Amino acid sequence: MSRYAVFGNPISHSQSPAIHRQFAKQTGVTLSYDRQQIDVGKFHSAAEIFFSEGGAGLNVTVPFKLDAFEYAEELSDRAAQAGAVNTLIFNNGVIKGDNTDGEGLLRDLKHNLQWPIEQKNILLLGAGGAVRGVLGALLSASPASLIIANRTEAKAQELVLRFEQAAEKAKCKMVACGLEQLSTPFDLVINGTSASLGGELPPIATSVVVDSLCYDMMYGKDPTAFLSWAKSSAARDTADGLGMLVEQAAESFYLWCGVRPNTAPVIQFVRNSL
Ligand code: ATR
Repeated sequence: MSRYAVFGNPISHSQSPAIHRQFAKQTGVTLSYDRQQIDVGKFHSAAEIFFSEGGAGLNVTVPFKLDAFEYAEELSDRAAQAGAVNTLIFNNGVIKGDNTDGEGLLRDLKHNLQWPIEQKNILLLGAGGAVRGVLGALLSASPASLIIANRTEAKAQELVLRFEQAAEKAKCKMVACGLEQLSTPFDLVINGTSASLGGELPPIATSVVVDSLCYDMMYGKDPTAFLSWAKSSAARDTADGLGMLVEQAAESFYLWCGVRPNTAPVIQFVRNSL
């Protein structure tokens, strides 16, 4: 039986084992999938033990995506572009690092929600690891413009520089700004800040989300603070990041097992279990 696991800290609330067990049941693949809480600074040694004992693949979550990037012996293009790894694959004696977060977001937006991106004006809130992990994928869907707005504007500017070539290739106008500079509405607003974790809101004007589609990369049993605020500020529609979570897992499952699971029933399964 192939062994998989997710490494993170904290990890007790991770839905990944439940998601991958659902995928395995659905596709007839036999696997085991556990969660492991790893001490900060111990990622490398824990991964060494896991793979030396026959582990076939790992998911990696906060705060170890940079450690996994450094640990990987080979990188996919999208992992190299993001500078972060959320999936490790042991194949022919080599540990390859990939990043499925951006693909997960894109599949949720385009296939599940049917929210268009091509030629649309997009606002991305935040400039941390979560945003860096999805920027390449968003640009590949050719939006007309992509504004990266962050509390600390300099970090948004760094991201614009890092992804300059990808934006040129996509013919997308990408600029950075601070949160307080925003005023006009966007077609799509994606909250990639960690503010929702603490029940907080990025301080932006309500005019920014009028008639917009609003997405929060966070999720929970109840709507996040950002999505409640967007709804009461006349957003056209809202969605949380549960679909992204399941879609990034499906992409990892595909990399490991070569089978693409049907995500819709698994999204519903996880929603019901929250
Ligand atoms: P992650 O890996 O989840 O992206 P991170 O790298 O620590 O975590 O980044 C957190 C992001 O959320 C940052 O963009 C942060 O803004 P700063 O760069 O100014 O710190 C943003 N953020 C966190 N709490 C916020 C809040 N209450 N309001 C606005 N932005 C917030």
